[in-house]
Amino acid sequence: MLDGYHILTLTHRDAPLETIGKVVVPGDHAPGFLQALKNRFGWDELLYLATCNRITFLFYTQAPVNEAFAAGVLETLHPEMTASAIQDIATNMRLLHGADAVRHLFEVAGSLDSLVVGEREIIRQLREAYDRSHAWQLTGDHIRLLMRFTIETAKEIYSQTGIGEKALSVVALAFAAMQKNVASPNARILMVGAGQTNELYARFLAKYGYRNVTVFNRTLEKAEAVAEIVSGRALPLDALEYYSEGFDALVVCTGATQALVTPALYRSLLTGETSRKTVVDLSVPNNVDKRILDECSVQFIEIENLKSVANENLAHRERERIKAEVIIEQRIFAYRALWHERQVERALAHVPDEVRAVKERAVSEVFGKEFAQLDPATQELMLKMLGYMEKKCVAIPMKAAKTIALHVQKQKHNSHKEILSDGALKR
Ligand SMILES: NC(=O)c1ccc[n+]([C@@H]2O[C@H](COP(=O)([O-])OP(=O)(O)OC[C@H]3O[C@@H](n4cnc5c(N)ncnc54)[C@H](OP(=O)(O)O)[C@@H]3O)[C@@H](O)[C@H]2O)c1
Repeated sequence: MLDGYHILTLTHRDAPLETIGKVVVPGDHAPGFLQALKNRFGWDELLYLATCNRITFLFYTQAPVNEAFAAGVLETLHPEMTASAIQDIATNMRLLHGADAVRHLFEVAGSLDSLVVGEREIIRQLREAYDRSHAWQLTGDHIRLLMRFTIETAKEIYSQTGIGEKALSVVALAFAAMQKNVASPNARILMVGAGQTNELYARFLAKYGYRNVTVFNRTLEKAEAVAEIVSGRALPLDALEYYSEGFDALVVCTGATQALVTPALYRSLLTGETSRKTVVDLSVPNNVDKRILDECSVQFIEIENLKSVANENLAHRERERIKAEVIIEQRIFAYRALWHERQVERALAHVPDEVRAVKERAVSEVFGKEFAQLDPATQELMLKMLGYMEKKCVAIPMKAAKTIALHVQKQKHNSHKEILSDGALKR
C-alpha cells in the first residue's frame, strides 16, 4: 500500500531559508549519517533531497511512524545542535504519509511547491538526489518505482500545462524584450559591466547566436571572462568614451550608484547614427542617465518596466497550477495501480522458476523413462509443447493477480469519488 511512503520536510513555506540551511547534512558525512538515521528508525528505504529552499526525507516503512519523531531525526543528523534549537526546527517540519506524501513529491517535481512556480531545475535536483541516495545504498525498489513515476509526472505537467512557460527572471525578460528589436545575430552589442547579471545576459546572447559583442568593465579580466562566453571582445571601462564603432544595443549593468552612461557619453557612442537603439539597464539605481530619452530614439528596458511583465507571467503560471493539480490527482491513482502491480510481480517472482522446475522434473524424473524411449522428433515436439505450457502457466497467476489488484483499485477510486461528491453536496 502507498501507506508505506512518508515524507518529513522543511521548506520555504515552513521556515526561513537560513533555518533550512542548518538542517542540511554536511556532504562528507551524509552517507554515514543518513545510514544511521535509516537504522535508528528501521526504515526500509530513504531518499534525501536538499536544495536551497527545501530539505526532504522520503522514506519507506510499514512500521508505524510516530508524529513526534522529527526531533529524533535532527538529533541523529546534527548531534551538535542544542535541544532547544532542535525543538524549534522540529515543530516547523511537516510529516506526510501515504498518498499525501506521494502527492507532495509530485508537487515538488512539478514545481508547484517551488519558490518560483514552474522552475524546472527541481527535476535535475531530484534526479541527482536519487542517484546519490541510490549510490549510498539507501534506496530500494519502492523508492526507485516512485522516483521513476515522479519524473514522468513532472514531464507530463511541464508538457501539458503552461506552468513552466513565460520567463520570470529579469535577465530572461530583458533579453526577450531586446530580441524583439535587435534580432540580427550580427547586431552590434555593447555590454557595460561584467558582474553576475551581465554574465547571465552573455549566456543568453551566446545561446541565440549573437556574434558581435564587446564587453567593457572596470576590471579587464572579468570583461575578458564574460567576452569569452560570447566569443566577443573585452575592453577596459575607460575605453568606452573613445569607442567609435557604433552600436545597436547597449546593455548596462554594474554596481555603480550613479549614471555611468551620461547623455554626453551616449551621444559619443552614437557616432552620429540616428536609428532607433535599444538600451538595457538592469542596474539599481539606473546606470544610464534617462535624459537620453528626451534627446534620442531609444527602446529603454529597465527593471521597473519588466516587473509588470514578470507579475503577469507569474499569474499565468499560477493559473496553470490548477491543470497541474488535476494531472497529479490522476497520476496518484495510476501510481497506486502500478505499485500494486509491482507488488504482485514481486510476490509472484518465484513462479517462473517453480514452473520450469516442474517441467524439468517431468522430463527427467517423473516421465524420464518414457521420455527417453521417444524418438528425437517426438522428444523435440514434446519439449516445444511443454515450453509453451510453461509460458502460459506462468502468465495465468500474474494476469489474475493484476486483474484483482486493478479491480480493488477501481473500487477504492469510485468510493473516493463518492465521498468527494457527498462532501460537495453537503457543502
Ligand atoms: N544579481 C541579480 O540577480 C541582479 C538582478 C537584477 C539587477 N541587479 C543589479 O545589477 C547590478 C549589478 O549586479 P551584479 O549582481 O551583476 O553585480 P556583481 O556581480 O557584484 O558585479 C558588479 C559589476 O559592477 C561593476 N562595478 C561595481 N561598481 C562599479 C563602479 N563604481 N563603477 C564601475 N563599475 C562598477 C563591477 O566591476 P568590477 O568587476 O571591476 O568589480 C562588476 O562588473 C546591481 O545594480 C544589482 O542591483 C542584480
